[in-house]
Amino acid sequence: MTANVSGFLDYAATARVTVEQALLQFTTMGSDCPPRLQEAMRYSLLAKSKRLRPLLVLMAAEACGSNEQEAMPAAVAVEMIHTYSLIHDDLPAMDDDDLRRGQPSSHKQFDEGMAILAGDGLLTLAFEVLSCSTLPPAAAARCCAALAQAAGPCGMVGGQVDDLADDKPETLEHLMHIHARKTGALFRVSLKMGGLVADATDEQLAALDTYGSCIGLAFQIVDDLLDVRGDEAALGKRTRKDDGHGKLTYPGMIGIEASESRAQSLVEQACAALTSFGGRAEHLTALARYVVERNR
Ligand code: IPE
Ligand code: IPE
Ligand code: MG
Ligand code: MG
Ligand code: MG
Repeated sequence: MTANVSGFLDYAATARVTVEQALLQFTTMGSDCPPRLQEAMRYSLLAKSKRLRPLLVLMAAEACGSNEQEAMPAAVAVEMIHTYSLIHDDLPAMDDDDLRRGQPSSHKQFDEGMAILAGDGLLTLAFEVLSCSTLPPAAAARCCAALAQAAGPCGMVGGQVDDLADDKPETLEHLMHIHARKTGALFRVSLKMGGLVADATDEQLAALDTYGSCIGLAFQIVDDLLDVRGDEAALGKRTRKDDGHGKLTYPGMIGIEASESRAQSLVEQACAALTSFGGRAEHLTALARYVVERNR
């Protein structure tokens, strides 16, 4: 592990605790919420996760001069959307996975109906959290619009639809288009919301966006590689599933070594985009390296 990655891991461990406290706080529901629904939402949301997307919100906000407290509602919102996407991704009608975040998938622990509704609950709650936050109204509105766009039909949901299709064009271009939406969009919007909270300049937002596109793709290439050679216990999810499920993946298309070097060069590109931030981007740079060095 490279030196600045281990420094980042210490920072991330502390920030993760703060994020998880906020996740708990923001899922304290009113008495009209069925207790089992709250339980199902928290079951998936609070399970063991790397919390990369909320960390990106906080780190981007800090790099642009804001702080953890101001950025937390956006961090919580994107983690809720991400968790909902995982719950639905595991459903029998989608990837049909029985293990997620080191525990039975939501539909195994509860049932399919509850898993669908826990996802729906998290998806809608994310926008309540953002819009009712202490953010200035203009920043809250911009964050809501950006998150809706990234998570919606032209973003994550669209990418998931194309990922599931049986008759996919088997081209690298199409694979990149799927990865950019199903995974990249939430990475990019995490950075954007961090920037918006901090009232970042257009130049800062553009640099964060280049960084986000590169690490989003690198992250999904590594996810595809870990499906081939990762360890289920470390990952907390099933491996060796993509091939039999007709998924278009980087290792499937260009091979393992070429996928590794592609991920590595994307990380270099990501880090190069942050030069104007100087030392303030130290954690973002380390996170990019962590994305390709990780085994979980
Ligand atoms: C898994 O995301 C889903 C993909 C986009 C590949 P993560 O690997 O970030 O999942 P958690 O949040 O750590 O569980
Ligand atoms: C999931 O991609 C992307 C989203 C949930 C939006 P994968 O299907 O590859 O993720 P894993 O491998 O199940 O975590
Ligand atoms: Mg999937
Ligand atoms: Mg899956
Ligand atoms: Mg995968």
